[in-house]
Amino acid sequence: MRKQVGKVDFLGSFPSNPPEHGLDEVAFVGRSNVGKSSALNCLLSRKHVARVSSRPGRTQAINLFQVGQHCVFADLPGYGFARVPEAVQDAWRDAIEAYLSDRAALRLVVVLVDARREPLELDGQLLFALTTYRIPACVVATKVDKLKRRAREGSLKKIRAEFRLSKDEPVAFSAVTGEGRDAIWDRIERACKEA
Ligand code: GTP
Ligand code: MG
Repeated sequence: MRKQVGKVDFLGSFPSNPPEHGLDEVAFVGRSNVGKSSALNCLLSRKHVARVSSRPGRTQAINLFQVGQHCVFADLPGYGFARVPEAVQDAWRDAIEAYLSDRAALRLVVVLVDARREPLELDGQLLFALTTYRIPACVVATKVDKLKRRAREGSLKKIRAEFRLSKDEPVAFSAVTGEGRDAIWDRIERACKEA
């Protein structure tokens, strides 16, 4: 799949309940500004297919991108950004929850956490919800390019302990260097094949 990414089509932006498309779906979730849209662009070897911004709260709806003939990537709004009005945060959270709990096509959720920051309680709640819904998750630690070796190892260890992950997670990832890109693609391909 990764070698044949080929055409990427933007299917649309939906405040909630995105339409069905008959393909496997992979969603990207995590706190505001963690790098969801950047990860999606990096995986697709595109610079601007999903909008990236240094200002948190950039992605404000569920954006769907069809990747070749195989699958659809869903770029979701972030959570946990205090400067977004509470009513808007509530609406996003409701849309994310409704989406995750009732999306038949969903094969994998890529949960991004910032390697430089403390894990959020919301991240833990999200992972717990995915276990409850029996949706496979892949935890990815982003922005590892910003950490020196010792800090990076400490951060990965902490995330692994906090979320009780297996030895091969979190995947250390950088949208800047492309580190971890292949490991995420492996997970995506496995999840979509097993479905
Ligand atoms: P929202 O849509 O607002 O929730 O944000 P997002 O999670 O989609 O984050 P986005 O991809 O827009 O990136 C946020 C900021 O982090 C941008 O300034 C990116 O350039 C930067 N960024 C994302 N990934 C990386 C990374 O791996 N390394 C570094 N150094 N910066 C990154
Ligand atoms: Mg985004």
